[in-house]
Amino acid sequence: MSHELKFDTEPHFVFDRIISPEELDILADKSASHGKLKFYFPENYLAKLKTLVNEKGIHIIAKNFGDKSFAGYVGATEKSLVSFPSTVLIVELFVDPKEQGKGLGRKLVQSVIDVAKSYSLRGAVVQTENENLPAQALYEKLGFKKVLNPDWNDGMTYLMEF
Ligand SMILES: CC(C)(COP(=O)(O)OP(=O)(O)OC[C@H]1O[C@@H](n2cnc3c(N)ncnc32)[C@H](O)[C@@H]1OP(=O)(O)O)[C@@H](O)C(=O)NCCC(=O)NCCS
Repeated sequence: MSHELKFDTEPHFVFDRIISPEELDILADKSASHGKLKFYFPENYLAKLKTLVNEKGIHIIAKNFGDKSFAGYVGATEKSLVSFPSTVLIVELFVDPKEQGKGLGRKLVQSVIDVAKSYSLRGAVVQTENENLPAQALYEKLGFKKVLNPDWNDGMTYLMEF
């Protein structure tokens, strides 16, 4: 007797490594919220992210496989924090509310980790607000550990050592 095995072979998202700052303009009208926390990309913040693209950045945009519409973004820099030398610093992670809960946030962070490993960095660091429980759960599931950060006590700092 045979039975049908179903595999989820359809890719839901495609990932593009960004090398041109202007590609980040796609974020300008994007927003999300979690409780009182609001996430959006005002002009001055977008300008700062754009400068990071040119400064040893690892920036990845995810689009829906079908219609190529925007799904998510992760931005990181090899310019590590003083207290965590030779690590990649994740400066922004954003998944469009329509696409949340499908594993995309995890995939975006994993993509940064994979690139950082290929650059022989020793780990990845990310900072979150105390109230951002979804992000904290995501980082902890990926194996990040909460660490003390002498330069920032307003929220939480997570480190993953490779
Ligand atoms: C945080 C964020 C990136 C998660 O993206 P996502 O694609 O929905 O996350 P994933 O589907 O990959 O989930 C991975 C894990 O994160 C955790 N998680 C995600 N959303 C969660 C939620 N709403 N509540 C609790 N845990 C959550 C879970 O542990 C989940 O693992 P599971 O699916 O096995 O339960 C997304 O909610 C977001 O963009 N939020 C606004 C911006 C933001 O907070 N950025 C992070 C700044 S540090």
